[in-house]
Amino acid sequence: MTQTQTPARVLVLGGTRWLGRRIALGHVDRGAEVTCLARGEGGSVPEGARLLAGDRATEGAYAGLDGDWDEVIDVTRLPRHAAGALDALADRAAHWTFVSSVSAQRLEGAPIGADEHDELVPEDASGDEYGGAKAWIERVARERLGERLAIVRPGLIGGPGDESGRFGYWVSRLALAKDGPVLMPARDQATQTIDVRDLTTFLVADAPRRNGVVNAVGVERRLHALIELAREIAGHTGALVRASDEQLGSLGIGHWAGERALPLTLPAEVASHAQRSSARYLAAGGAHRPLRDTLEAVLRDERALGLDRASPHRLSRADELAAIHSLPSKA
Ligand SMILES: NC(=O)c1ccc[n+]([C@@H]2O[C@H](COP(=O)([O-])OP(=O)(O)OC[C@H]3O[C@@H](n4cnc5c(N)ncnc54)[C@H](OP(=O)(O)O)[C@@H]3O)[C@@H](O)[C@H]2O)c1
Repeated sequence: MTQTQTPARVLVLGGTRWLGRRIALGHVDRGAEVTCLARGEGGSVPEGARLLAGDRATEGAYAGLDGDWDEVIDVTRLPRHAAGALDALADRAAHWTFVSSVSAQRLEGAPIGADEHDELVPEDASGDEYGGAKAWIERVARERLGERLAIVRPGLIGGPGDESGRFGYWVSRLALAKDGPVLMPARDQATQTIDVRDLTTFLVADAPRRNGVVNAVGVERRLHALIELAREIAGHTGALVRASDEQLGSLGIGHWAGERALPLTLPAEVASHAQRSSARYLAAGGAHRPLRDTLEAVLRDERALGLDRASPHRLSRADELAAIHSLPSKA
């Protein structure tokens, strides 16, 4: 089993949903023979890849995977799935990429510009705590694979195919509102999103030569500037209604993601969550495309999905308008 720049046999543990599917496609495009192990409930695997249907929660889930692998990519968030895969496959893998998350690192108390060395959150082998589960998997995979392991920790991912609509909220909402008002936080704040296409390119290119940990985070930007650019792209001509943190709080409007959340916003005390260093990502060959490119692609997607669709990740238009009308000043 030799480590080559373009892996010949690639196994994606996942591959039916957003990022995993794109990773599988990236390897297909580079000429690899790609197998995806998943139940098939999340969607289809890309053309050119083979689906091996299996449930990682069951005994023998990996039994159908013959031979050695040049590259294995695991996107799981569940420690028991990760452990099962390592038991079954670690000795047959030349290289392994674990897609972790910056949530494996502390949220509160992190300095501005925190990098890969910043503290991890307490591990959670049960999988109940997302960040703790990722931290647990990172350690166990490292113990098992050593130098054959690359850990890539994305920050918030945006771009085409993002059904969560978190990053897509602003450009989508501005397009929906047209000449109507749009609610925004008065407090400007940092925001950081990596385009899924840049992340995928990074995860696929030169994968077998990579080891160690890389935080794959986007460019740090100001939310107000992002909203301004999104407004131009969406052709919004209505008012931007600024509300203070106190006003938003009293209306029950929260941060980041949720049915009553303004996506991408963060409480001031954890603002550094969107101010992480991308230095190692860039030094390792990662790239960041222009924000305009991401916003335009996302708006096309959002229009196709329906600008006014219900989402558990963002404030509905009806709730937003009710909030705007209850504010004392709309200017
Ligand atoms: N979105 C973000 O902003 C963000 C930020 C940081 C990190 N991340 C990380 O990025 C990755 C995203 O991955 P993704 O887009 O491919 O989505 P995902 O929902 O995390 O993918 C899970 C994959 O595992 C498969 N799976 C789930 N349960 C399974 C089971 N019991 N047996 C076999 N396969 C199973 C799913 O396929 P089936 O359902 O078909 O089985 C799917 O292909 C994750 O690692 C996430 O933690 C995301």
